Amino acid sequence: MAKQTTGTIGILTAGGDCPGLNAVIRGVAKAAMHYGIKVIGIQDGFRGLVENRTMPIENKLVSGILTQGGTFLGSSRDRPHKMKVNGRTVDLTAEAVKTYRKLKLDCLVCLGGNGTQKSAWRLHERGGLNVLTLPKTIDNDVAGTDITFGFDSAMAIATEAIDRLHTTATSHQRVIVCEVMGHDAGWLCLGAGIAGGADVILIPEIPYDLEIVTQHLLRRRRAGKRFSIIAVAEGIVSRQEARARANAPAGKSSESSDGVPGAVYHGIHLVQEPVASRLARQLQQLAGLEARVTSLGHVQRGGTPTAFDRLLCTRLGTKAGELLAKKQYNIMVGLKGNDCVPVPLQKVVGIKRVVPIDHPWIKTARLVETCLGDED
Ligand code: F6P
Repeated sequence: MAKQTTGTIGILTAGGDCPGLNAVIRGVAKAAMHYGIKVIGIQDGFRGLVENRTMPIENKLVSGILTQGGTFLGSSRDRPHKMKVNGRTVDLTAEAVKTYRKLKLDCLVCLGGNGTQKSAWRLHERGGLNVLTLPKTIDNDVAGTDITFGFDSAMAIATEAIDRLHTTATSHQRVIVCEVMGHDAGWLCLGAGIAGGADVILIPEIPYDLEIVTQHLLRRRRAGKRFSIIAVAEGIVSRQEARARANAPAGKSSESSDGVPGAVYHGIHLVQEPVASRLARQLQQLAGLEARVTSLGHVQRGGTPTAFDRLLCTRLGTKAGELLAKKQYNIMVGLKGNDCVPVPLQKVVGIKRVVPIDHPWIKTARLVETCLGDED
């Protein structure tokens, strides 16, 4: 016998994808249905909400997707208040609210990173929508949770890559610079770097000194080590660049030393030269060691989630279902210790959780003689 329906929720995935999104959708949907809540999928993130592109989610649709990478709903980086339409940026918050009302939603469930948390909160504040969010990102930089889903899977991929680079680097007595995702937060690079035994780990939170890195590599070579692996996050800055940024006039973003700013063309972020290439070239010139570059890129966001992420996603998703049944809204469901807990959304929004420089992982790295680019 069909259960009494106690409401309707919409669910969307926004921002960059990651392994585990389908697992969370499944967790939320199955738990919501268990409590008699109807579930509607919204396609391609907030763009689908604005454009009223939706699909009914039934039990069959969320069966067998636990292990699938990506998101079957599609994702986008669009934000309702700054939508690109025919080359113009327009505020379509009212359209988003219209769809929500038309679908008679009780709550909009948003799976995403920092940008998504902000967009959801804005829809609540400006449009009066009930929202519930879940912390997704391989960057692990969302506040209010000990870990974001997708992070563990990306870390496993990057660690395996570093493992593989070790064997080829040893064979050829090379330095290999491996670029890991992370523009502002170094969690992924630091975690995979430690797990993969990288000899140098450079993260955005610690500006590096090229001379210190060079000396570290030369010392390894003198000690008879046949290889060096350098793990670098996308957003690393040298001490020189950090100083230039600190002195740049407010609101003006400084360029990298190669003069490549974070350019945007027709609203699309342009592909940039991997920072690893520049670093490898500089190190090759300074240290006279043969270097190669590997940029892991979107490989880190693809494929099946790890067992840890599958469990985390299922726990966070089903907890969200439980809270929706209790009509607890305007919260993010995060992991604190071993518990999935509701966190008031306003305590999450606008805070980027970067690696504190006194974090235990930093100390751990230094104690196994890993150079972090600031001291040797
Ligand atoms: O936000 C997650 C993330 O994977 C970052 O680590 C990375 O810098 C960015 O997304 C890449 O975004 P895109 O897929 O839009 O190029």
